[in-house]
Amino acid sequence: MTESPHPLNLAGEPRAFFGRRSGKRLHRGQDALYRDVLPALAITLGDEPLDPRTLFPDARRLMLEIGYGGGEHLARQAVEQPDTGFIGCEVFTGGIAKLLEAIDTRDIGNIRLFTDDALKLVARLPAASLDAAYLLYPDPWPKTRHHKRRFVSALTLAELARIIVPGGFFHFATDIEDYADWTLAHLLREPGFAFKPELPGSWHTPFPGWVATRYEEKARREGRMTSFYFSFRRV
Ligand SMILES: C[S@@+](CC[C@H](N)C(=O)[O-])C[C@H]1O[C@@H](n2cnc3c(N)ncnc32)[C@H](O)[C@@H]1O
Repeated sequence: MTESPHPLNLAGEPRAFFGRRSGKRLHRGQDALYRDVLPALAITLGDEPLDPRTLFPDARRLMLEIGYGGGEHLARQAVEQPDTGFIGCEVFTGGIAKLLEAIDTRDIGNIRLFTDDALKLVARLPAASLDAAYLLYPDPWPKTRHHKRRFVSALTLAELARIIVPGGFFHFATDIEDYADWTLAHLLREPGFAFKPELPGSWHTPFPGWVATRYEEKARREGRMTSFYFSFRRV
């Protein structure tokens, strides 16, 4: 597989990598959620590295979810693991509002949000500072000329390997076989991660405690009945 230069760059220069950032208004309270709930949860990057322990001083584990969409998986995990601190990255305003609503109504206290390109945040995290990262149903960018926009690249995998603690995990799910192949091909070239499934085909079994996300439900409705759930171990 040949790969053109990835448009992601760590200097934070502009690039086109995700789809829409805003859509139809979710509900009447969206502005109120942005005004009243988001400010206390939003992560703002400065020039210095961001130690995630400062966001969650009492947490036993720290996890990241990139592109959480409506936040179904993130909210459920946060409720079920109150001693874990979760950082969620999403740029789509409707999705951010949906998660803010869940945080507000369910009184979830262990989520912080980054509302810009996840890679900007990842680049500021210190080495071995997270226990796990999730990338669930990333935008597939199916056209060959758009493959360079896929979140998984040599650069992003190297960055994830840098920030995940040895023994930690990068969990990836997709319903798009070509993206699964793409990710495995990149992964095999990243020495920081190992892929050792228990049995052939076990990658079709969802992660423990799995919650179907909006995009998984969409895939099923559209007849894509099989997904790939990869857990890559940081070596
Ligand atoms: C196909 S959706 C999947 C959403 C969700 N994970 C799910 O399974 O329903 C991909 C999401 O990733 C977000 N996204 C894409 N690139 C991103 C980036 N670089 N940083 C943060 N979010 C990103 C998009 O805004 C979109 O909501």
